[in-house]
Amino acid sequence: MKGFGLFLACLLCICKKGLQSNGWSIQVPSDATGEIGKAVVLPCTFTHPHKTYDRTLTAIWRIKEPYDGMVVFKCVTHSLSDLCKTAVSYKNKYKLIGNPRHNNLSIKIDNLTWSDSNRYFCRVEFSGDLHDKYESRTGIRLHLIAAPRIVNITIGSNQDRTFRAQCTAEGEPLPSLTWTGPLFSNATSVTSLNHQITKELHYLTHDGKYTCTAVNSHGRAEGAVYFYKFKAASGSLIVILMFVTLGIKVLVLLAILGIAVFWRAGHVTAQSRLSRQQAQDSTYENLDRRNNCGSQRLPTE
Ligand SMILES: *[C@@H]1O[C@H](CO)[C@@H](O)[C@H](O)[C@H]1NC(C)=O
Ligand SMILES: *[C@@H]1O[C@H](CO)[C@@H](O)[C@H](O)[C@H]1NC(C)=O
Ligand SMILES: *[C@@H]1O[C@H](CO)[C@@H](O)[C@H](O)[C@H]1NC(C)=O
Ligand SMILES: *[C@@H]1O[C@H](CO)[C@@H](O)[C@H](O)[C@H]1NC(C)=O
Repeated sequence: MKGFGLFLACLLCICKKGLQSNGWSIQVPSDATGEIGKAVVLPCTFTHPHKTYDRTLTAIWRIKEPYDGMVVFKCVTHSLSDLCKTAVSYKNKYKLIGNPRHNNLSIKIDNLTWSDSNRYFCRVEFSGDLHDKYESRTGIRLHLIAAPRIVNITIGSNQDRTFRAQCTAEGEPLPSLTWTGPLFSNATSVTSLNHQITKELHYLTHDGKYTCTAVNSHGRAEGAVYFYKFKAASGSLIVILMFVTLGIKVLVLLAILGIAVFWRAGHVTAQSRLSRQQAQDSTYENLDRRNNCGSQRLPTE
């Protein structure tokens, strides 16, 4: 019975030794969180069984899977006084910030994008007088968060000649979208894909400013679009402008042109008024400075 206990203890000690891999170990957190567009630090430190080591050392980071995933960062230092020279930095956004001579392989990833969401594994190699290497098997899972951003906000026309406002926002967690405006229709529809969500406001009837607000736990963003139907001074002009805007087919246009020929001067006025009015009637204003501002035309056929 005593012998069996000793045997068990010995098994345990072999197992423990196996887990430590002969004095090698790597310490990494299981998760890290970064914000889109900003930088994140992935910590990694190690211990090794050798009393001292002052020769060639290589630090490596890979993604997706241990031992086999794509190498996104690699640097080599040949002596204690030698800085770790970068040999690989995928898209030039990975930078070593730890000191590998002090057992620290921490890196910084700049300019985070959605594609940086991944698992990261660090590895150290000794290849001077002795050859030895060790790599973390569990890896760090990088989570990305993002404050809302208005990606696109437009007014479009439907087949049935009604107008709708459309707002697309990006964020993680997915933001919720709200439309506000002058006595607007409450008919909305929502679609989302990956980190983007689109909300449409159907059947616009009233002129004015329509505002789209995107909110998630990291912030909020607003965008606005102005919707004005044509308000021409004379009654005959209103008819022509409305028809043209709503994209009536060739036959009707010919009829209008017929009238225009009859009132030649009037037609020219209508044309120039139309183009000026289109440019100013649907302006695009985005309160989120990260987006371009510009003007947008109401669709014509
Ligand atoms: C590793 O280096 C980073 C960057 O200098 C530092 O913030 C971190 O505290 C270091 N880790 C340890 C365990 O010393
Ligand atoms: C981040 O990426 C953008 C677009 O790729 C680039 O214009 C910008 O210079 C980058 N910023 C840094 C700090 O690398
Ligand atoms: C904005 O949305 C409209 C309507 O869906 C689309 O036609 C346009 O290409 C989009 N613009 C951008 C910059 O994505
Ligand atoms: C809009 O709101 C009114 C009153 O709140 C409601 O009766 C109507 O069904 C709503 N329409 C839609 C399309 O949600």
